[in-house]
Amino acid sequence: MSESALINESNKIVEIELLSQANYPAWLDKAAKSSQDWISQTGFSAKPGAACWVPDKQGNSFVLLIWDGEDALNALMAQPLSLPEGDYRLSAASTENLNAMTLGQLTLGWGLASYQFLNYKEAKRQAARLLIPENCDADRVRAQLRATSLVRDLINTPAADMQPSDLARSTLAFRRRHKGIQVNICQGEQLLEKGYRSIYTVGQASVHDPRLIDLSWGDPSNPKITLVGKGVCFDSGGLDLKPASGMRNMKKDMGGAAHVLGLAELVISQNLPIRLRVLIPAVENAVAGNAFRPGDIINSYKGLSVEVGNTDAEGRLVLSDALTLACEEKPELVIDFATLTGAGRVALGTDLPALFCNRDDVAEAILKSACTVNDPLWRLPLHQPYLKYIKGQISDLVNTASIAMGGAITAALFLEQFLDNEVPWVHLDLMAYNNSSKPGHPEGGEAMAMRALFEYLASKYV
Ligand code: BES
Ligand code: ZN
Ligand code: ZN
Repeated sequence: MSESALINESNKIVEIELLSQANYPAWLDKAAKSSQDWISQTGFSAKPGAACWVPDKQGNSFVLLIWDGEDALNALMAQPLSLPEGDYRLSAASTENLNAMTLGQLTLGWGLASYQFLNYKEAKRQAARLLIPENCDADRVRAQLRATSLVRDLINTPAADMQPSDLARSTLAFRRRHKGIQVNICQGEQLLEKGYRSIYTVGQASVHDPRLIDLSWGDPSNPKITLVGKGVCFDSGGLDLKPASGMRNMKKDMGGAAHVLGLAELVISQNLPIRLRVLIPAVENAVAGNAFRPGDIINSYKGLSVEVGNTDAEGRLVLSDALTLACEEKPELVIDFATLTGAGRVALGTDLPALFCNRDDVAEAILKSACTVNDPLWRLPLHQPYLKYIKGQISDLVNTASIAMGGAITAALFLEQFLDNEVPWVHLDLMAYNNSSKPGHPEGGEAMAMRALFEYLASKYV
């Protein structure tokens, strides 16, 4: 658990001298002669990210770490799994000009870089541990780390061990960690009784029952915020089966569900003054004789009929029922997270989630929060003229657009048809996965846009 990489005290600790490349020559001039000699004899070259162990006169040593003057975070995030195991702290000189916000981000970065998914193999080594600097909000940093680890763990867990029942169990686990949680789970045939026919239909071919998971927390008189997360536990594509390369990582298709649980962990542990609701339509998009077919027409919970153009466009189907339900109580804001389209990744690449929003002021505030916490997002438009591409010939809507271009936009427009226009709505189409490792971002499941949205909520509801 990467939270254990952040510590409050230690009796044997090594200092990290974090120096920008520009300040390095002046620092070296003032350093002890023995340090200067050591650094020159070891052939150390002060490039960004370079680290050097330097002995001092007392027989201890410190770590010299160079950054480029722009981004200390990257230099620091390369350290937890490359420095020897043990305890470290940033030197007083390294932190004296940093505000609480920056210190918090550096500390969080260390924690994020310490993450290892160890449910299926032994750790080769422990991460080096960092003493949480004074003057940073340790409680919030720890919560961010806990939430991110939860998101990563849920996504990394293989589909065989992360089915709708497992998502339900992870949601129910909130009742053990926090007070005042209600969880209601609608399962299997009960979905049909309530009218959630889109969720049921997508999930009907799996041996694992589909579910609609509904968690709530907080004073009912507080502003109502509802999170909706796509919980497709494995997306084979259904009968319009994905090719092998496209299916390989589809255990992550419950990434939206993982994100809303992570965000809920943050909101609840930080006790934001809101009434939170979390809705997760959880299904497996499987292949079997009773699978839904291209050409089938589903009568959605809202009453709009939807012709299935492709069973691989299942995310928008399960979300549609959940979004309709979310709007029934007219919340102040609905936020959905979904690994919805490959087209979103084509437009923005894998690291940048697409933000769609039916209110300009909300979108702008969220983009600002995303910058503040270094958790980037990019807005794409709900371009209404494209609505014609998802209108049906023999149904109200089709779940695939009649044109191949702009797939993230047409998917978002599809979702919008199930919303109440009076309800402000944010839709995040994201990857939820690192295809390769970068400092602080190990290959595998990743939280994206979660801290940005938390910052938005935390700055609006104080
Ligand atoms: N889960 C996928 C989208 C996806 C793929 C997200 C890769 C992230 C990475 C989704 O259910 C899907 O298959 N969408 C199709 C829709 C198409 C059939 C209209 C897509 O994007 O190709
Ligand atoms: Zn799909
Ligand atoms: Zn999917």
